Amino acid sequence: MRIGIVYDLIRWEERALAEAAERLGHEVRLIQVTRDPLWLGYGNGLGDLDFVFQRCVSYYRAMASAMILEEEGVPVVNSYQVIAGTEDKLYTTLKLAKAGLPVPKTAVALSKEASLKAAEKLGYPLVVKPIYGSWGRMIARAMNEENLLEILEFREHMQSPHFKVHYLQEYVEKPGRDIRACYVWGEVPAAIYRVSERWKTNTALGAEAVAANLPDEIKELVRRAGDLVGGGVLGVDLVEKNGEPLILEINGIPQFKNVVRATGYDLAGKIIESTVSMFKR
Ligand SMILES: Nc1ncnc2c1ncn2[C@@H]1O[C@H](COP(=O)(O)OP(=O)(O)O)[C@@H](O)[C@H]1O
Ligand SMILES: [Mg+2]
Repeated sequence: MRIGIVYDLIRWEERALAEAAERLGHEVRLIQVTRDPLWLGYGNGLGDLDFVFQRCVSYYRAMASAMILEEEGVPVVNSYQVIAGTEDKLYTTLKLAKAGLPVPKTAVALSKEASLKAAEKLGYPLVVKPIYGSWGRMIARAMNEENLLEILEFREHMQSPHFKVHYLQEYVEKPGRDIRACYVWGEVPAAIYRVSERWKTNTALGAEAVAANLPDEIKELVRRAGDLVGGGVLGVDLVEKNGEPLILEINGIPQFKNVVRATGYDLAGKIIESTVSMFKR
């Protein structure tokens, strides 16, 4: 097959996907998305690709280029719809909760006053998150009302309007780790625990990645969550609350270097094989 990899900055994952695709006998085209303009409605010479992986670090670049390529008739993995839905924590949590999948208790408050009302119900500590973002960035924990007011003050003075959407969540007392599970077209081939002394267990913040053999019940939950947001290739984050899994978020352009390092599993190869067989049908 002819496989495109759309990227802005090339990272370990993009190289691993390109290498795996070539190893498995496919033709790979690397598409550096900031180099050339993308024409609307005239085609960009990519129509011969069987599909492309969307791998931009920047969400806005990912969205813009996914939309244009899909209109050009090239399937994008993940699709525009999946990237848009999963990047938005409000949307993802809403959909998961509505479908009855377990998530931490969460409210969205559109003012300081409404946030304080939500806090009365959630109790302290509680977690405040930006609806867009990753690597644990700008996520804060309020231990009491004084902390919450400080966090809200920062947020209310931020330039980007999305910071005025306050996503407030119960703080889950987890066992020194969370779970990152890899979802690939309906399967959960690899997972890690992210172990840290800090409460935010992102590997970007120094958590240690440890191979995890997830119980079937958690794998099934990850499958259902992935299917619900539209499938493809996803990274699903979960926390354990008294042993019960709760879904924190779903990453639509997942990094997976640490999963491969910790498990030794050829995830890039699996992603190529599964995606190729999806588009062969
Ligand atoms: N409600 C919560 N209770 C306890 N820990 C949390 C909660 N929400 C997030 N965390 C911690 O913060 C990390 C980052 O949160 P997450 O929702 O995955 O956002 P990001 O997109 O920044 O990774 C998680 O991996 C987890 O360790
Ligand atoms: Mg996360």
